[in-house]
Amino acid sequence: MQFFLDTANIQDIKKYAEWGVIDGVTTNPTLVAKEKVQEEFATPKRGSRQKLDSPAGRNRLFEKRIKEIAKVINGPISAEVTSSDAKGMIKEGLEYAKWAKNIYVKLPMNEEGMKALKVLSKKGVKTNITLVFSASQALLAAKGGANFVSPFIGRLDDISQDGMELIKDIIQIFRNYNFKTKVLVASIRHPRHVVEAAKLGADISTMPAEVLEKLIHHPLTDIGIKKFADDWTSIKQ
Ligand code: G3P
Repeated sequence: MQFFLDTANIQDIKKYAEWGVIDGVTTNPTLVAKEKVQEEFATPKRGSRQKLDSPAGRNRLFEKRIKEIAKVINGPISAEVTSSDAKGMIKEGLEYAKWAKNIYVKLPMNEEGMKALKVLSKKGVKTNITLVFSASQALLAAKGGANFVSPFIGRLDDISQDGMELIKDIIQIFRNYNFKTKVLVASIRHPRHVVEAAKLGADISTMPAEVLEKLIHHPLTDIGIKKFADDWTSIKQ
């Protein structure tokens, strides 16, 4: 299973890249928005505040951040479009694809997203269909030629549905027809989501840093490390 980090935080990306387990990064407008205040607004250049607080300013900030991520991560980096019509999505997607060779353009699962997927796929732009909440949506994304499909399991669990059942269904459908589209499990909230997705054979899990951090810990490991260290230093002449 591939691990992606679900963040636009460059420090986290650098930190966990050192573990050697990060195969890619996913971002979305919410994650990018979390970052902008600290970095750009904290130290605005003269007259830049107004410019940043505009579509052009936001795009500039986004481009800068995605390019920074691309310097650290060789694997897929998902960058999400923000236009609501296919024409705008295509324009953004073609622009993003120029930023780095490993950009995957994230498109929403709706009519406009499907139209943009058709055009961008034909042009060889790599794609990730996001905000997927049903097997029928995943099937459409695969038929449309998406490279990744992103089912949001945590948000389904939040409304008392079973996100993991959706992953099971999508994997079965893709296997039945040998679709090349990869199942990118998103909206992961805790380590069990990662383990269950791995048991089902999902291709990728994208997770926030807090979840990745939790994967490594076990109280018995901590106790064991301490005991070994204590026993070792208790050896006397
Ligand atoms: O990247 C999209 C997805 O992982 C968002 O997760 O926690 O906002 O539902 P969440």
